[in-house]
Amino acid sequence: MIPMSDALAQIDQIAQAAREELKAVRSPAELEQYRIKFLGSKGLLKGLSRLIGTAPREQKPVVGQRVNQTNAEIEAAFGELKQTLAHDATGDRDYVDVTEPGSRPKIGNRHILMKVVDELTELFGRMGFSVASGPEVEDDFHNFVALNIPEAHPARDPLDNFYLETSSHQGQLLLRTQTSTVQIRVMEREKPPIRVVIPGRVYRPDTTDATHLPMFHQLEALVVDRNVTMVDLKSTIMQFVHAYFGAQAKVRFRPSFFPFTEPSAEVDVWFEDKQRWIELGGCGMVHPNVFTNCKIDPEENTGWAFGLGIERIAMRKYGIQDIRSFVENDVRFLRQF
Ligand code: FA5
Repeated sequence: MIPMSDALAQIDQIAQAAREELKAVRSPAELEQYRIKFLGSKGLLKGLSRLIGTAPREQKPVVGQRVNQTNAEIEAAFGELKQTLAHDATGDRDYVDVTEPGSRPKIGNRHILMKVVDELTELFGRMGFSVASGPEVEDDFHNFVALNIPEAHPARDPLDNFYLETSSHQGQLLLRTQTSTVQIRVMEREKPPIRVVIPGRVYRPDTTDATHLPMFHQLEALVVDRNVTMVDLKSTIMQFVHAYFGAQAKVRFRPSFFPFTEPSAEVDVWFEDKQRWIELGGCGMVHPNVFTNCKIDPEENTGWAFGLGIERIAMRKYGIQDIRSFVENDVRFLRQF
């Protein structure tokens, strides 16, 4: 006869082993091994029943109850696992193949316009230009006065500008309509020789269509030095067009007018896919009044400037049909670049 505490300890020990080993079972074949070891007619759990017989009479109920509990628990757990493994075998459950390479999370990419800005500043960097910038909220002086745009000029029309309700000591504030404002800011702080490009965002209450947005980007360039001529201007633009769009790209200059340049021209590029000329921007020789407004001597210095639409450049370079694609945030468009 064995003491009851020993009998109970023995039951618990086997129960513990049965639980542990069941956890390690992974396949129907392993489960069968397990069944034979624990639940079979010669199994460890059946062996426990013999303990009841060896217990003193008054203790038989306690030992018997523990044996039955253990049997019931292990048989239930066994049955459950058997079902799970049977499901797996018929493919009801998804297997996790830990050897399969993981799927890369999709991270965003730089906006195509910003890539074009990088390409342009890099290209002009190689041509000896440094990069400058200025504020998007401008005052009357930098957007108009210093650029030789007098008080009554139609360019100041409220219908053509986004004026702000606040004002400063420089008068009315507005969202800049052109990056030419930064020409002034550069000439206020630097003296010739100057050779800068200025990429930036500009705003105009234009009607949106396939080539116009109310907010767009321009690339401004400004060169000021002694003996700078229109030939430098034209050859720089030609050089840029051929380097960026390819040697075959066709460009033409049309006489034009801007208050801050004299003479002035407009630059068009041939869009092969649209079979038409599209205006890239304006250019010209810096007007002497602009130099004077920036305290640069127009007798000693000459200069040229241009301002090109960056969206139009990107459209020509990457065959983008409609300027609205840049701002629609359609990932199918954005992911292409
Ligand atoms: C100007 O803005 C002058 N500041 C350019 C300049 C600079 C002349 C330096 C002389 C010296 P314009 O208004 O033409 O010029 O605009 C220049 C270019 O910006 C246009 O040719 C076009 O490519 C682009 N652009 C103008 N309006 C829009 C618009 N609403 N949406 C997209 N691009 C535009």
